[in-house]
Amino acid sequence: MIWLVVIPGVLVALLGLFTLRLHLRYPELRWDWSAIDVDDVDFPRDFVWGTATAAYQVEGNMPSCNWQWWESQVDRKGRPRIHEGARAGVAVDHYNLFRDDIRRMKDELGVDSYRFSVAWSRIEAEPGVYDQAALDHYGEVIDALLAAGIEPMLTLHHFSHPLWFEELGSFEHEANLDHFVRFSERVFAEYGSRVKRWCTHNEPGPFAVMGWGLGAFPPGVRSPKRAMRVLGNLMLSHSRVTKALKAMPHGDEVEIGLVKNIFQFEPWRRWNPIHWVLARILEAGYNESVIGYLKTGTFRSTVPFARHVQVIDDGPAPGDFVGLNYYSHLLVTPFTSTEPPFETFARPGDIAVDMPYCIYPEGFYRALKQIGEVGKPVYVTENGLPDDKGDRRAHWITTYAYAMSRAMTEGVDVRGYHYWSLLDNFEWAEGWVPRFGLFGVDYETQERTLRDGAKPFVKLVADTKAKRRERRDQEAEAS
Ligand code: GCO
Repeated sequence: MIWLVVIPGVLVALLGLFTLRLHLRYPELRWDWSAIDVDDVDFPRDFVWGTATAAYQVEGNMPSCNWQWWESQVDRKGRPRIHEGARAGVAVDHYNLFRDDIRRMKDELGVDSYRFSVAWSRIEAEPGVYDQAALDHYGEVIDALLAAGIEPMLTLHHFSHPLWFEELGSFEHEANLDHFVRFSERVFAEYGSRVKRWCTHNEPGPFAVMGWGLGAFPPGVRSPKRAMRVLGNLMLSHSRVTKALKAMPHGDEVEIGLVKNIFQFEPWRRWNPIHWVLARILEAGYNESVIGYLKTGTFRSTVPFARHVQVIDDGPAPGDFVGLNYYSHLLVTPFTSTEPPFETFARPGDIAVDMPYCIYPEGFYRALKQIGEVGKPVYVTENGLPDDKGDRRAHWITTYAYAMSRAMTEGVDVRGYHYWSLLDNFEWAEGWVPRFGLFGVDYETQERTLRDGAKPFVKLVADTKAKRRERRDQEAEAS
């Protein structure tokens, strides 16, 4: 009879130890903000400040694109795929208004860099047929940026691609990678002499998980196994594209990197072993697999029923830098919905934004440290928040800038930061509701207005520029 007490007692004790071990090993960092001066930041003179967008979200009028097809689809329950049945349509007409937008970046923000993506579906609407007018368009964008003293940072794949590539199964099949490599070479041949920073893939994790895991992005598949196959192929694609471009004229003059999104997965209840197991599985599949590939060249998913190992390079992944997109962490439970609408899990005192996560600058600091371990320079390629009321943007910018400065002081080699986003834009499955822009956009008139909450960002840029001027003056005096 005693065993009826002893055995459960031992099991509970073992579970307790297991949970305690994880709790100590993976702390959820929280700073005492009342003791922090967020203005205590220090960015070097050559730190690059920028903003970011992506073609499908801002340009408008993109037929022959996988996302335009997706907008007309419905889910298993017959609901439109995009929140409120929204369509990107003319988006914020950046395709036509890019000159005004570049002028705004120069005059109103003063930024050094602009991260944007080219629309593969415009450039190669049919396999192997390249549209010179579309290529010339991005050539004009690049020239206008350079004329304004803004460095272009070009992303080759930011979620959207031609419908024909979607119909081939896109990145699920290794054989399809040749198409993307060829397209990348064509684009590089065009702009390699003018664009110094290149991103291969934007956020392989969300692309694979939303598209093939949760089914909320095209192609709408719900299979963790297939999602991991896509993720492995995206790593392979990054390697192949990077090596191909490096071998081309100007290849050795440019910097190329993969853009990794980090959302840390953490247990909603830190005393609950089930929450821990789930958090650790998601963390391994979503973050550690990609970071492991960057460090070792091997992609390894340990997700149960979705194990996947792909040896891609026999050393660290190729590339000159790592791009980091960081927003927040996600607190998970086995009851977390796997279909939109997703719920926000918050700790007491957390400030939620207009998508299902909260302001968590400590997570940015942690992500920078983690990505810093890859051993390459880091560019923050996205960071920002959806804030329609405009009452949280300034707080976000100052606290995240503080976290970044702190990580840099502790040795992480961060070279630049791009605020997401320059403009309000079409937020994929969330449609038009989230408003990320430093500039608010009136979707009826396309009028842009710099938001009040953008002021701390403008100040960070101006402070760095003042340092540069000071240095130039000193040098001029000395000579
Ligand atoms: C992504 C993309 C961006 C988003 C941004 C805000 O993370 O999904 O890179 O296109 O718009 O991150 O959610």
